[in-house]
Amino acid sequence: MIEVAATSTLPGRAETMLADRSALRVHRGPALTGEDELAAFIGSAAAAVTLLANPITARVLDLCPGLSVVGNVAVGYDNVDIAAAEARGVWVTNTPDVLTEATADLAWALVLAVTRRLAEAEAYLRSGRFSGWGLDLLLGTGIQGKRLGIVGYGRIGRAVARRALASGMEVAYADRGELADVDPPALRLELDELLASCHVVSLHAPLNPETRHLIDARRLALMPAGAVLVNTARGPLVDEAALVAALERGRLGGAGLDVFEREPEVHPGLVGRRDVVLLPHVGSATRETRAAMAELAARNVLAVLAGSEPPTPVVRGRWKLKVES
Ligand code: DGY
Repeated sequence: MIEVAATSTLPGRAETMLADRSALRVHRGPALTGEDELAAFIGSAAAAVTLLANPITARVLDLCPGLSVVGNVAVGYDNVDIAAAEARGVWVTNTPDVLTEATADLAWALVLAVTRRLAEAEAYLRSGRFSGWGLDLLLGTGIQGKRLGIVGYGRIGRAVARRALASGMEVAYADRGELADVDPPALRLELDELLASCHVVSLHAPLNPETRHLIDARRLALMPAGAVLVNTARGPLVDEAALVAALERGRLGGAGLDVFEREPEVHPGLVGRRDVVLLPHVGSATRETRAAMAELAARNVLAVLAGSEPPTPVVRGRWKLKVES
């Protein structure tokens, strides 16, 4: 039977789907974050089901020459060296669509958590300081009639736009691509213009060499006083030290961050701040969504191993093997 290596326990039916048609090995310990330990686990497997923490580098691919397909359980694939996979004819797949609504919900929750000071208010109550309703107690900022700027108007960005429109915000977006359909309709702006004119900015761009530190000190300085930055995409989109400096200068109204530049480390300048809400990369973390992601990864891997087109390819590789379908 063809060998499949899953680098983590998989939720939903994914493990059963894979075990029915392959010799499945599952790593159930701490995340495999080193190239050598990852390669040693994948070994001679024809397929690897991987997580964001697993660096699928050229070296790992060279150490695992039997690998036909990497099924990443995430929509983002910045943990995979795409050029190296292409050069070696290895398929790479991801898990778009199934996590769109959950991730947009979380981005929207961060918008509200920061503008309405939810973490601070909850900490206040738990500390026993709440002594009754007050006209000026923990006032936040209203969002109605204000402009939300979305950086990256793909599936998740648009799902956030729908939530913002339903809440009475105006929406603008910046996107490097030529978009065929813009639904929901929104004002297109250049990134600098968007930053200068939005009260809340939410990031939904992929991480690649062009987008690393897309939001740097210069761009943070363009944001209006009191503006809020939300990031549920990838930490390195933001120069975290520059963000801390902008918050310390009182330039921004706050930030809602689900991702960090050196994840899982969080910049120490963020941890003690009351005007930021910090979450441990839980954008897609609902039971339903994580099961759907793992099952989509399993379908992708099984399709490649069966010699057919996977549902959501990122890199089209070569078909090397065939399992019974
Ligand atoms: C992804 O899918 O890329 C997320 O960051 C994890 O949900």
